[in-house]
Amino acid sequence: MIEINNLTKVYKLSKKQMAEQKTKKNMKKAADDISLSAKKGEIYGLLGPNGAGKTTTLRCVATLLKPTAGEITVCGHDTVKEPEKVRESISFLTNEIKLDPQFSPKYMFNFFGRLHGMDEKTIDKRRELLFEHFGINDFQDKKIDELSTGMKQKASIAVSLVHDPEVVIFDEPTNGLDIVTARSVTDYLKLLREEGKLVIVSTHIMSEAEKLCDRIGIIINGRKVMDGTLSEILTATGTDDLEDAFFELYKEHNKEEA
Ligand SMILES: Nc1ncnc2c1ncn2[C@@H]1O[C@H](COP(=O)(O)OP(=O)(O)OP(=O)(O)O)[C@@H](O)[C@H]1O
Ligand SMILES: [Mg+2]
Repeated sequence: MIEINNLTKVYKLSKKQMAEQKTKKNMKKAADDISLSAKKGEIYGLLGPNGAGKTTTLRCVATLLKPTAGEITVCGHDTVKEPEKVRESISFLTNEIKLDPQFSPKYMFNFFGRLHGMDEKTIDKRRELLFEHFGINDFQDKKIDELSTGMKQKASIAVSLVHDPEVVIFDEPTNGLDIVTARSVTDYLKLLREEGKLVIVSTHIMSEAEKLCDRIGIIINGRKVMDGTLSEILTATGTDDLEDAFFELYKEHNKEEA
């Protein structure tokens, strides 16, 4: 349902970015020949350190970035040739997308529902369900500006799910959340999996990947160095837990780059 074939994404760096990244090269290969496929009814996790290329990959899947090379299809639709079709079937959550601070979660939810062409009754039903699940009812009429980080994140998640999409693409969904709230998010992702939806998440939290994901793709320096179920990864690396497996792969593949 998501097919990524040989995705490469190269950013052109400004002089300022070159100075910031202490590099003389004016190009950065953020995704390097990544291929993977994820199916309905599974939670696929992209696991990798800061700067590995997780957000870049997910932004390409969500049609927000054009690949430099390679193709991606979502529910059979090419992300470059049919981006509107792809957008209809996905929900994309990233920490860079901010809700308008002057409006309330309820207002934003209804607004995005209408943008998706939903009728008022269906929007109300979805809102009641999602606001109840994520505990948003108590602050649904407050300005987003006045909410805590966790409250904002919960509101963003609920808004991104308004249209009940088939494919859910969440970039570090539990970022900044306490364990109670993080659990309500991961529980909801499991519920989506039970409904037969496809969920793809990025994380650098090993325990989250271990517990939540059916399959894990490990990304280091823009390359997918391994993917599989947790037990497949442990067997292939001869380790007992994901953190050890990750460091084995990190030692091997970070060396290659140096
Ligand atoms: N718009 C951009 N212009 C230039 N370089 C970028 C841009 N966005 C990301 N990069 C670079 O591409 C690389 C991959 O970044 P990306 O955000 O995809 O990593 P990530 O795995 O999501 O990391 P994190 O865990 O910190 O969120 C990094 O080296 C980053 O500095
Ligand atoms: Mg990121």
